[in-house]
Amino acid sequence: MNVATVPQDLAIDLRQLVMTIANAVDLVGVDDLLHGRRVGMLARDLGRQLGLDEKAQILLYDAGLLHDCGVASSCAHPRLLRDLEWPGAEAHCIRGGELLRDFAPLASLAPIIRHHHSRWDAPESQSLPPDVARFANVIFLADRIDALLGPFHGDLTTLAHAEEIRMRLAAARGSLFAPDLVDAFLELSQGDRFWLGLQPDAVRQYQTDMEAFRDLWLVTWQEFRRCTEIFARILDAKSPHTERHSRGVSLLAGHLAGRMGMDVVTCERIAVAGLLHDIGKLKIPGAIIDADGALAADEFELMKTHSRGTLEVLQRLQAIEEIARWASYHHETPDGEGYPFHVAGDALPLEARIINVADVFQALAQDRPYHRPLEAAEILAILKERAASGKSDASVVAAVEADLDNCHRIALCRPSQ
Ligand SMILES: [Fe+2]
Ligand SMILES: [Fe+2]
Ligand SMILES: [Fe+2]
Repeated sequence: MNVATVPQDLAIDLRQLVMTIANAVDLVGVDDLLHGRRVGMLARDLGRQLGLDEKAQILLYDAGLLHDCGVASSCAHPRLLRDLEWPGAEAHCIRGGELLRDFAPLASLAPIIRHHHSRWDAPESQSLPPDVARFANVIFLADRIDALLGPFHGDLTTLAHAEEIRMRLAAARGSLFAPDLVDAFLELSQGDRFWLGLQPDAVRQYQTDMEAFRDLWLVTWQEFRRCTEIFARILDAKSPHTERHSRGVSLLAGHLAGRMGMDVVTCERIAVAGLLHDIGKLKIPGAIIDADGALAADEFELMKTHSRGTLEVLQRLQAIEEIARWASYHHETPDGEGYPFHVAGDALPLEARIINVADVFQALAQDRPYHRPLEAAEILAILKERAASGKSDASVVAAVEADLDNCHRIALCRPSQ
């Protein structure tokens, strides 16, 4: 008998994936939610103006969408949005390149993103493959156009500042930017149309139009796991407190599923749901996530929206629809009193119940600013109470009890002795 050990290959629409990652990146703490999308749009239009073919133009759009994926915290971003050149920019370029290079369908973007703040006249740019240097420089210019426009997006006075921005960028012709690229920009940006096209509604419409460029890839499960790492690391970047939590939940949920007799394929899928379960926290302000005391009532209400956010972030990825649902149900409880969907009984799958228990377990086991790490026996006592009152699934809690020390070790991502 042929027993599957990994889930089947997935048909992933690369465009939807790029947009999902880009939207997640935009939530890390930028003050302008459309920055990535505007840079993608500018980069593609510059590519067209330079006479590049459609494939290259779409590559530039994707690179623009993802160019800031290496931004590691909310504080780095405002600097990136204001200054024309900033030596500290290198760190997010390196991290962004590293994030994408291990996932084959996006690996071609990695060197472009790695160099998207490199000056055109720098020796390192001259030694890059010509296409990489050219594309990276297009992203650099598109990014700086949006940086200079940044202060005016809110009050819609972009037109009044257009000439000033054109002149400032023209002065960097041949130094920061390739001469023919600056020429292309100056030609493209003549007249009002170009500047009006950067208004929020136009940028959103542009993104919708780009969704028509479908790009289906058959991705193996192992490859897809590398892609989920990208999401996990973006979430890690949002807050040090979520770091390790998702990984612990993933490992523990997969382990418990196996202990409960689920097949290897299901265990793998549950582990992915565990890894992604809190991705909706990207939508919650960092100050609330990192709060080291009890939350005020309205803050707690906002915090409770994060599991719906998980579904919203992942919903473009049809290939993992079921995994996304399990993940977004992680605060639902068997008694129907959980949130935000209030699913109960048969409508609440065992897979989601496992993630719920793993989530509670890991959070209690971890050192958090507002509580000390609990011992395994203390965690079990809490879980049993939850099971008795319908807040957690009793069969899952029984599986924890039968293998308590291992569960504790796994939740804390510690290797077996
Ligand atoms: Fe940027
Ligand atoms: Fe959660
Ligand atoms: Fe969680």
